[in-house]
Amino acid sequence: MLVQLTYASRTAGILGANDVKDILAASKRNNVLNGVTGALCLNNGIFLQQLEGDKTEVNALYHRILRDERHRDPAILDFSEITQRRFGSWSMGLLSSLEENRQVFQKYSGSRDFDPYGMSIASLRGFFGEIVDNVRWLG
Ligand SMILES: Cc1cc2nc3c(=O)[nH]c(=O)nc-3n(C[C@H](O)[C@H](O)[C@H](O)COP(=O)(O)O)c2cc1C
Repeated sequence: MLVQLTYASRTAGILGANDVKDILAASKRNNVLNGVTGALCLNNGIFLQQLEGDKTEVNALYHRILRDERHRDPAILDFSEITQRRFGSWSMGLLSSLEENRQVFQKYSGSRDFDPYGMSIASLRGFFGEIVDNVRWLG
């Protein structure tokens, strides 16, 4: 069964550029093997990640990610069965928090600050649907 899981968490301590690079590199390496695709956003010290793939793999990955000390306060925001992937060819895309992406953040988060914890499931789905095509990606 194909599912998607969306969660948010807060960066723990001071997260350097190398930490983000490491996370992305590990994600690309492992997700290809496990058939997981998705997107990771980092803005205002908050991670927002959408993972998609086989239900067992997505669950296992989420539990591994929870043990990572580089973040805290995890909250599942959306979990559902899907019929097709949104990020079909991306083992993990990183969305930059560039000024030009801010409008998309604001449109869906409804506040000046990016706050995925307070977003409705419909807004989250709208956000991920829009960013696939319309934002700048870092890698
Ligand atoms: C916010 C966040 C998102 C992450 N996303 C993924 C991911 O999608 N896939 C993955 O394998 N690891 C991800 N990680 C890293 C894992 O927690 C873990 O460090 C990594 O999978 C270990 O890989 P390794 O055993 O190959 O070194 C993420 C970590 C954080 C903090």
